[in-house]
Amino acid sequence: MLIATWPFGKIATDLALAKLAAGGSRLDAIETGIREIERQSCDGSVGLGGKPNAAGYAQLDACIVDGPGRRSGSVAGLEGIVHPISAARALLEHGKHAMLVGEGARWFALDHGIASVPIDELSAKKQAWRARDRSQGPQTSGHDTVTVLLRAADGHLAGGCSTSGAGGKLPGRVGDSPIFGGGLFVDDEVGAAGATGIGENVMRYAATCLIVERMRSGMTPQQACEDVVHHIARQDPRGYQLDVCFIAVDKQGRVGAAASNSVFPFAVTTATGSRVLEVQPVTPR
Ligand code: GLY
Repeated sequence: MLIATWPFGKIATDLALAKLAAGGSRLDAIETGIREIERQSCDGSVGLGGKPNAAGYAQLDACIVDGPGRRSGSVAGLEGIVHPISAARALLEHGKHAMLVGEGARWFALDHGIASVPIDELSAKKQAWRARDRSQGPQTSGHDTVTVLLRAADGHLAGGCSTSGAGGKLPGRVGDSPIFGGGLFVDDEVGAAGATGIGENVMRYAATCLIVERMRSGMTPQQACEDVVHHIARQDPRGYQLDVCFIAVDKQGRVGAAASNSVFPFAVTTATGSRVLEVQPVTPR
């Protein structure tokens, strides 16, 4: 069972399923699917073709987790790296650290042979932005993340995500996607959950960790996703105007999805078929 955010997530889940069928591992499947979304920069919000920050260049976030042993790798604020998900995977395999950011993350990716583009011209963009009137602040709307969750035939779980984050974000801003329990959480005993939307409204609430904990307490993935939207809306000054969406899968392979205030299309792929489904926004309580 594979579930992914947005219609373009189906590209990732279909490729991931094919990778599994060809004998690839859970991580091979997740990485392969997400690399294709990064390559295509789907919706202009993933990969180097994604949304630029306020200074006019992409800073990318990604994360990958394998359930058994909670093996994890996360990178944030990556500049000029073509496949952040592969940098995150290399960090997972390296095993020593869970997360790298900025320049150190780029060095690590280069050391591990991840494809890159030159970033020499970025320093001019950075300087020009610093010299500008920045009083208008960042835009935070209109960005999407690819998040893929996998429940393999043997019941083990894995997940990954990749994004350019919010368009016009302040340079150095890290979203929810590379934060464990923010944009992605995988617990091999219970289930996995992922997020898309405005990361600040996800990470402040450790939303995907909450979804998994609700599944541990007996909720279905659907109930857990919806309940966490209500939980956040109850506490947040924006109420339901959160622009967040969640997906989840449990150990049994049941899936769920919920959105705060918009229709949310997502992809579900199994050995017997692959479809884009959608949920309506939750009904406010
Ligand atoms: N959900 C992606 C981000 O806010 O960066």
